[in-house]
Order: sequence, then C-alpha cells, then structure tokens
Amino acid sequence: MLKTFENNLPRRIRFGRGISLELTEELRRMGKSRPFIVTDQGVKGAGLLAHVSGALSRAGIEAAVFDRTEAEPPFSCVAAANVAARTASGVDVIVALGGGSVIDTAKLVAATAQDGRDAALLAGIGKVGRRALALVCIPTTSGTGSEATAVGVFTDSRTGMKVGVLDPCLVPDLVLLDPELTDKLPPLTTAAAGMDAIVHALEAYIARSATPLARGLALEAARSLGPALPAVCRDPGDKAARDAMLVGSHLAGMAFANASCCAVHALALPLGGRFHIVHGVVTGCLAAETMRHNLPACGDDFARFADALGWGAVAPGDFPGRIGELARSVGLQKALRSTDVPDASLAELARDAVANRRLMDPNPLPMTEAEAIGIYRRTLQADA
Ligand SMILES: [Fe+2]
Repeated sequence: MLKTFENNLPRRIRFGRGISLELTEELRRMGKSRPFIVTDQGVKGAGLLAHVSGALSRAGIEAAVFDRTEAEPPFSCVAAANVAARTASGVDVIVALGGGSVIDTAKLVAATAQDGRDAALLAGIGKVGRRALALVCIPTTSGTGSEATAVGVFTDSRTGMKVGVLDPCLVPDLVLLDPELTDKLPPLTTAAAGMDAIVHALEAYIARSATPLARGLALEAARSLGPALPAVCRDPGDKAARDAMLVGSHLAGMAFANASCCAVHALALPLGGRFHIVHGVVTGCLAAETMRHNLPACGDDFARFADALGWGAVAPGDFPGRIGELARSVGLQKALRSTDVPDASLAELARDAVANRRLMDPNPLPMTEAEAIGIYRRTLQADA
C-alpha cells in the first residue's frame, strides 16, 4: 500500500537559451511592475545582472537591486536585503538572479520584506506560513536546484551551524532556466555543482520519504546529468551538455524537494560549514563512502540509478566505487585534499551530522557517530 504523500512544485517553469530576457513579458503576465532583484557581486561581475536588468530597463521597467548577498548567507543578509526592498517602495515581485545562496536569500525576502518578520525565527519546518511577494528565480549555476525547492539554508552566525528554513510557501511562482547564463562558469564550479546535483537525485531516489513523483524526477535527472557532467568537464564550451546540466539540476531539485536529501548532506553540512569547503566538493566526495554504508538497503535502487546515469549494467556492490571514480575524475577529490581537516575534529563533525535528524531520518539506513567518523576518515584519506 502506498504511504500518504504530498508534492510541491514551482507554478510555472520555462527553459531556453536567452529565456531570461523574457522576464519583462513574464512580469506583465503576472501583473507585476516593480521588481526587486536579489543577486551577488559574482553575478554582477560576470555581467549577468546588467544583461537581465538592461532588458527590463529597455522595456521601461526599472528594477531595484540588492547585490550584496553573501555566500553561505547569514540571516543578517536577509535583513539587509529587506531594508533595501522597503526603501525601494512599491516592490511587488522578488527576482532571484544567482546560485543557491542568492535564491535562498530571495525566498526569505519575498516572505518577510513586507511584514518585517525576523527570518532567524523562522528556521525549522513550516514556520514561515505566508509569502506576501511574488517570487521569480533565475539560476545562474547548474547544481543547487534551490529554484525548485521549498528550502533555504542559512548560517547561524552565533554557532556557525547551517540551519534550514523549510515551508511550502517558499516554492517560487516562476522559474526561468536559461543555460546561456551558465556558459562561462569556471570548471571547478561546474564540476562541484554538477556532482551535487547528481547527489541530490541519488539521495532523493533512495530516501525513505521519497514520493513516486520524486523517484521519477530523480531518474530523469540522472539521465540528463550522467552523460552531461563528464562532457562539460571535458569541454566547457559544450552547449548541449550545459543545457542538460541545467535541466538535470532542476529536475534533481524538484526530486529532493519532494523526497529529501539524506546522510550525504547531513555529513556535508558540518564539514563544509566548519572548514569553508565548496558544498558540491563535499557532497560529491562523501557520496561514495555513504553509499557503501547504504548498500545493504539499496541494491536494486543503485542498479536502476546507474542504468539511468548511462552506465549500463552495474552490480550494486560496484556502484559506490563508480560514484567515487566520477568525483575523482572531475577533480573534486583533489579539491577536497587541498583543505586540511584534522582527524581530531571528526568526532565533533560526526556528532553534528548525526544530530541532524531532518536529513538523517530519511536515510535508507541509520548511522551511528562511529560510522560517520569512519565515512569522514575514509573520504578525507581517499586518493585524489
Ligand atoms: Fe547539495
């Protein structure tokens, strides 16, 4: 018998090269005229903000802009953006233009800019309740999938810990997937974000809380990402692969939004947070050993997922090793080895990881702190 489930998805999704330039028509369609763009210095420096806001301006729409979103944003970043949004006056739609940090910040701005609620008090599940402003997301990386989800991840500045804000009202109204915006991404960013997207699909597929819709989306994500990730790492100018990466990461985002991420992400958050390692480097490298742990519960699923990735018939027991080889072949293991993580810190990381029940409970098998330490140690010592 099927368990009860619910699914939350963005209301409207458009994909296409150059589609971000159609934001004007989309805003008119939504009856909105005063956009507030949330972005960061990297997106601005790459010329993408001028690209999008220029098109609005040519159509007579002047956007207000907050361009100081921080990486791994603290809640104070939402507060700063809210002040700018209120100063702009008359804002009726929030437009996120950027990667995961930007999109996460924009979600909370759309929910709190008007009523002035403190975003830090909304951490947890279902505490946001309402979002007064419309929300449009235009991702500029292919990985986080945040444009498809009801989650924002923030850093609690008092503890340094990552905390999640999860509420169905944070799912965007409109997503514009324009792969042109991802064409110039640097190689390590491309590889890390792409591997993170594969991990999203994999964890969504095996999660105990996966819905039938999420499992279908996860397999389709794997079909896009499996061939595209090695291709785009070999040739960053491969536009067909860039297209497939963006679609795949979005499908993976919709998948984990309606299942969950699991132990890889529970282990990755404290390690990445404490040692400031790029999220996709950490999740990509931790996946192999975590899947070895999950193997007794996931044999058939691993075989099906490997087939979807385009790997053909892979014996379930070989699957974790193949995931590790992929992370190594796109340079992530080397990137991980460049950070010194003392062995003495592993016990504390493992404690934090296992305490993250939001991500550990959906994992196919339980994990003890001792097992988590073993996974960290073997991952950190693996050959680059
Ligand atoms: Fe992730």
